[in-house]
Amino acid sequence: MRRRDFLKACGAASTAVLAGQTVGISQTSGDVPFDDELVFLLSDVHIRPGFRTVDAFASRIETLLAMNPRPRHLLIYGDLSQFWGKKEDYLVLREMMRPVEEAGVRWDLAFGNHDRRAPFFEVFPERVQSTPNVPGKYVSIVETPRADFILLDTLVEGEGDGAIDEQQRAWLEKTLAGYSKPVFVGAHHPVEQTGLAEMLAASPVVAGYIFGHHHNWLHVVADGLPRLTLPSAGYFWDFGYVVLRFIGDEAVFELKIVDHFPDLGEGKDANPPEEPLPKWLDVVHRKTGEAFIVPLHKG
Ligand SMILES: [Fe+2]
Repeated sequence: MRRRDFLKACGAASTAVLAGQTVGISQTSGDVPFDDELVFLLSDVHIRPGFRTVDAFASRIETLLAMNPRPRHLLIYGDLSQFWGKKEDYLVLREMMRPVEEAGVRWDLAFGNHDRRAPFFEVFPERVQSTPNVPGKYVSIVETPRADFILLDTLVEGEGDGAIDEQQRAWLEKTLAGYSKPVFVGAHHPVEQTGLAEMLAASPVVAGYIFGHHHNWLHVVADGLPRLTLPSAGYFWDFGYVVLRFIGDEAVFELKIVDHFPDLGEGKDANPPEEPLPKWLDVVHRKTGEAFIVPLHKG
């Protein structure tokens, strides 16, 4: 069975087919209500002009804008660019985010190892924080009615791994100490690379840690800290997105997987073969509809 046929058959595929690299996401018409508690999560977009990741990201955005009610928030957990912060990558992203912004969806991001701060801010000057939470870093707090999200900056330019320096750690410690509302801390890199796991697990308000980087949907509660790895928007390994709903006293992260294609070591231009291996399709079957449910309050 061809990849497209399989995905269609199992109902996991986004049916959006976009012509070429022209980004033509149309806003849904009419009065689509917002759900301020609904959060759309993406990671590892790896945008590059003319590459298949553009179509994949466009499909994710189209899905977001077609939701009714519409999520108020979109959070992107890093690697927005493919070629290490090339300005051309961010210029494509700029165009693709326009309908999101025009639709009234608020979006925010964490930098990944494929990103670079200077070219990003050149293309998105409105993102420059006049009073940065942490000087030299892009650290933001996104407020929603039931829980907030702190997006940290783990980018060490030129390195694949991430890190949190003492200044950012001190800011986070002080910020969490003043919090009473549940908060999901997150960044592009896994918590092991931040040195924050113990602090987050000990905090009475931290409900979990959200990150990307691995391009695979994974979830675990380890050492008292729930950890969620997001899929890639459409590069390698798990392709998809996550929708977060607050139900009762729990946060329900639901995976929407649309494809799975491992990095075959054929370079950055590699495309999924038209005839996928059954074990890749099994991953899509197995993960379809998976959810990670996290209590908002500890104890
Ligand atoms: Fe990535």
